[in-house]
Amino acid sequence: MPLPMSHEDEELLLQLERSNWTLAAINAFHAMMIRTADEQALYNVACEALTSKGAFALAWVGLPRQDAESSLEVRACAGTSVGYLEDIQISWAECERGGTPSGRAVRTGQVQFADHIQSNRDFRPWRARAIQFGLHSNVALPVRLVDGEVVAVLSLYSNVPAAFGTTEASLLVRFAEDLGYGLQTLRTRAAYETALAETRKQTRNIEGLLEGSVQALGAALEKRDPYTAGHQQRVASLSVAIAQEMGMDPDRTQGLRLAALVHDLGKIQVPSEILVKPGRLNEFEWKMLQEHPSVGFEILRPVGYPWPVAQAVLQHHERLDGSGYPQGLKGDQISTEARIIGVADIVESVSSHRPYRAALGLDHALAEIRRLAPLQLDPLVVAACERVIRDRGFQFGP
Ligand SMILES: [Fe+2]
Ligand SMILES: [Fe+2]
Repeated sequence: MPLPMSHEDEELLLQLERSNWTLAAINAFHAMMIRTADEQALYNVACEALTSKGAFALAWVGLPRQDAESSLEVRACAGTSVGYLEDIQISWAECERGGTPSGRAVRTGQVQFADHIQSNRDFRPWRARAIQFGLHSNVALPVRLVDGEVVAVLSLYSNVPAAFGTTEASLLVRFAEDLGYGLQTLRTRAAYETALAETRKQTRNIEGLLEGSVQALGAALEKRDPYTAGHQQRVASLSVAIAQEMGMDPDRTQGLRLAALVHDLGKIQVPSEILVKPGRLNEFEWKMLQEHPSVGFEILRPVGYPWPVAQAVLQHHERLDGSGYPQGLKGDQISTEARIIGVADIVESVSSHRPYRAALGLDHALAEIRRLAPLQLDPLVVAACERVIRDRGFQFGP
């Protein structure tokens, strides 16, 4: 037969039980806080975790407001005694309504206790109401961000007097620290997402400006040379299709597109009589025309694009066997961007109308790049171009 428990034993057992409940609440809070997406959900979860096992009669989270009354706004609450908070007005200022543990916890940044609400002078305005809802003791814990700023108070009530001993208090301090940590995480994440959205917006603006300036440069050239009007646009659209077929990443493809849109920019320095001359060019004229990649490079080099735009423009007439111009580069010396623009340039030129001949069509253009690969053109680019046109039905726009 078990011995009857002494009063001390009973007290000890009760304390142990409360500590277990508090520990269980901390664990439940940890499990739930991972899934919370915003601050309100975090406050709700904290209050529910503390009261769900019935260990505490009421938990609420208050936010200190900077209004005329220095009010404490109840943002979340849970427990069997939530009716206590209905229309309640609490302050965190040094006044009668700021005398409760909750108001003092915000003011001082320290944990505050009321072991006997029934006889606690600070509870005078709410004492009758507290007793009516069976609330006998209260602990209020400041909730801080990592910089130490008190941004909320967690207030917890028990229906027995002096329920918050040293053990509970230290466990609850940990609980309030975890709540502060959760808040900080949400705020840091929100600040990061805001910064990211702003960066994306700025990037889009810069890309828009780059695009606009590139279009203007392309249009300036095409005004002087009506036969190549739209040539750069069409080369750009085929270059992008080839790059996508080859699996080039979208950011790099954007740089390639801009380079293709201005690849013949240097022709702005070539006399228009040469550009529109219907017959064969003499040696001097041909030399002038061959200057256009270098002229384009010199114009674009100072712009500081985030991609190798100027380099692709410089190299778009280079050929793998060194037979191209202006530098006679070979193999890997020629960038992928320049190889793609080189192939797209030939396909567009052969298939379109030129001052010196009629349009020859896409079949003829494909036969031409096949003839030039692999000695002059990158066979991978040529194969991708063929797939784009034959299998995917690529068509140049108007
Ligand atoms: Fe060119
Ligand atoms: Fe071209």
